Amino acid sequence: MHSVSICLRLLLLCFVIPSAVRSQDFCVADQCRILEFSPEKAFEEKRLIQHTIRIVEVVDPRFCENLCYMEPDCVSINLDKREDRHGNYKCELNNVTHEGYEHQLEDHEVFFYHAAESNCVKSPCKNNARCQSGFTDKGYRCICRPGFNGQRCSEDIDECVRGLHNCSLNAYCNNTKGSYNCTCKPGFIGNGRECEGITSCKEFYDKGKKANMSIVVTLLIDSQPVPVLCHLGNFGCGDGGWTPVMKIDGTKTTFHYNKLYWSDYRELNPTGGQTGFDEQETKLPTYWNTSFSQICLGMKIDQQLRFIVIKKQADSLFSLIADGKYRNTSLGRETWKSLIGSDASLQLNCNKEGFNANCGGKISSKARIGIVGKKKKNNCSNCTSRVGFGTGGWPFFSISCGNTAKGKLSITAIGYILCTIQENSSRQALYNVFCFSLPSFFGNLFYSYQGSQITRFSSCSVHTIGPCSRKYKNRFGPLFQTTFHYNAHYWRNYHEFSVEKLGLTNKK
Ligand SMILES: *[C@@H]1O[C@H](CO)[C@@H](O)[C@H](O)[C@H]1NC(C)=O
Ligand SMILES: *[C@@H]1O[C@H](CO)[C@@H](O)[C@H](O)[C@H]1NC(C)=O
Ligand SMILES: *[C@@H]1O[C@H](CO)[C@@H](O)[C@H](O)[C@H]1NC(C)=O
Ligand SMILES: *[C@@H]1O[C@H](CO)[C@@H](O)[C@H](O)[C@H]1NC(C)=O
Ligand SMILES: *[C@@H]1O[C@H](CO)[C@@H](O)[C@H](O)[C@H]1NC(C)=O
Ligand SMILES: *[C@@H]1O[C@H](CO)[C@@H](O)[C@H](O)[C@H]1NC(C)=O
Ligand SMILES: *[C@@H]1O[C@H](CO)[C@@H](O)[C@H](O)[C@H]1NC(C)=O
Ligand SMILES: *[C@@H]1O[C@H](CO)[C@@H](O)[C@H](O)[C@H]1NC(C)=O
Ligand SMILES: *[C@@H]1O[C@H](CO)[C@@H](O)[C@H](O)[C@H]1NC(C)=O
Ligand SMILES: *[C@@H]1O[C@H](CO)[C@@H](O)[C@H](O)[C@H]1NC(C)=O
Repeated sequence: MHSVSICLRLLLLCFVIPSAVRSQDFCVADQCRILEFSPEKAFEEKRLIQHTIRIVEVVDPRFCENLCYMEPDCVSINLDKREDRHGNYKCELNNVTHEGYEHQLEDHEVFFYHAAESNCVKSPCKNNARCQSGFTDKGYRCICRPGFNGQRCSEDIDECVRGLHNCSLNAYCNNTKGSYNCTCKPGFIGNGRECEGITSCKEFYDKGKKANMSIVVTLLIDSQPVPVLCHLGNFGCGDGGWTPVMKIDGTKTTFHYNKLYWSDYRELNPTGGQTGFDEQETKLPTYWNTSFSQICLGMKIDQQLRFIVIKKQADSLFSLIADGKYRNTSLGRETWKSLIGSDASLQLNCNKEGFNANCGGKISSKARIGIVGKKKKNNCSNCTSRVGFGTGGWPFFSISCGNTAKGKLSITAIGYILCTIQENSSRQALYNVFCFSLPSFFGNLFYSYQGSQITRFSSCSVHTIGPCSRKYKNRFGPLFQTTFHYNAHYWRNYHEFSVEKLGLTNKK
């Protein structure tokens, strides 16, 4: 108690110094406070309500103003003149004076109200800053809110320019009054502080943007922002987010079989990637920079759109086509013909289908993506009919998309090529897990396979979606009793172990 009163007495010194004495003369600049409680602003039997920021107890009623002085936000006090049973007085510190709050200065017989001279009454501080009376030679100081600067907090801080922001490197920083906005750059999505690049419509779709409509999204293709119309939902190729790749007008030769577009990195009319199933021919960088597990092929004939899907995993369409090598598919002739409708015609033989389908011979019908046919059974050369995209050869050499066949059939189409990665393919791999348990093996061993290809070996804990199926356990368990025992050499060598009995390929 003793030291407190000494301290208070010292402060009292500062407090009673006439305001004519300049603060700088004896105080550290800015920290010194001069607060004058003039007798004109002392009111007996009054109390200012609702602005108390702190209640303190004082042993001497005169200390109340002192404590107000020590509290930088305090500019007036209410003193409860009643002594409590310890001999203390209650002192309420307020952060406003009655000026402007006259209606809150209430009669209260046991209270004494005293206000200091406050330069904050004129609200000199801007932008919601806190005003503290008695500081600096102006008689107040402003404590700015974040984002503002200056003696009166009237200057906006440009966080973007001064590097005081949180925006992702992949975001724009836009200054706002008192703050800033982070906006992910085109090709990125996120909240601005974290922006993730999206490289396909599938990613866009998966990031919770599920919708069954189409929307222009800027993808990051080959590190460049590329706005494309993402086809979301099921428009005929199954549910998902489909990335456009190409649009071909069959009446033109832009994407004829022989054109370099199939084997180079040139784009064509990228804005056509934003316009959906119309007539604008387009080749997007997604041709060489978007990996997929499914290709959606569409043909529009007489305003009628038809679609088929090829399930094929690849790094890009470019990787399947550009080298000119044939890569098979197995959709079957009827599926290909369904792109055309009931008028479709394809000769019965050869029926080579896939990418770079070309049965040989200089004038043979061929397709970058499609199926070719011929009449004679003998062998697969000089085909004379086709259904596909990027076509050429006899008959109707110049038709680049649609269906042509010997006997004057020619149907041109606008072709659409889109792609996506279907989660299903990976789920399917998990679904097709074979497992077996061995008494001496510390768990279950799993084969994951896609088609007939084993793609993964794993132990139960990693890839199971359910418990190891009893069915498989019983069926295959005994078969491997010791083959893959912990001590077996198979774990340490490169020898294959035939699992043909499982209907799988030769794999360990
Ligand atoms: C006074 O303090 C209250 C509570 O902390 C606060 O809401 C109010 O803005 C302050 N008023 C002034 C003028 O500083
Ligand atoms: C940065 O972001 C965090 C939240 O992620 C926020 O709490 C913090 O205030 C931000 N910093 C600046 C300087 O804006
Ligand atoms: C944000 O800033 C970037 C450049 O820094 C500018 O291109 C963009 O138009 C700005 N956005 C807004 C909404 O001001
Ligand atoms: C900042 O973001 C808000 C909300 O997203 C928006 O209303 C405002 O226009 C943006 N301001 C600038 C300068 O970008
Ligand atoms: C999505 O499809 C459903 C049924 O086909 C339809 O009712 C709904 O309006 C569609 N939503 C949008 C956003 O297109
Ligand atoms: C995109 O293309 C560039 C070269 O053009 C290549 O380096 C990059 O690996 C490609 N990315 C994908 C995902 O195909
Ligand atoms: C397709 O090609 C793969 C590998 O190139 C081959 O294993 C498969 O037998 C072919 N399928 C058909 C139907 O020709
Ligand atoms: C296909 O026919 C051509 C010409 O009749 C012949 O030269 C070629 O050897 C035949 N190919 C096969 C695989 O029979
Ligand atoms: C394919 O056509 C060419 C030229 O018309 C011809 O020389 C060749 O014998 C034909 N091959 C077959 C197998 O019919
Ligand atoms: C996903 O796979 C399941 C069974 O494996 C199948 O029934 C379903 O149709 C598939 N969905 C799509 C969108 O391919």
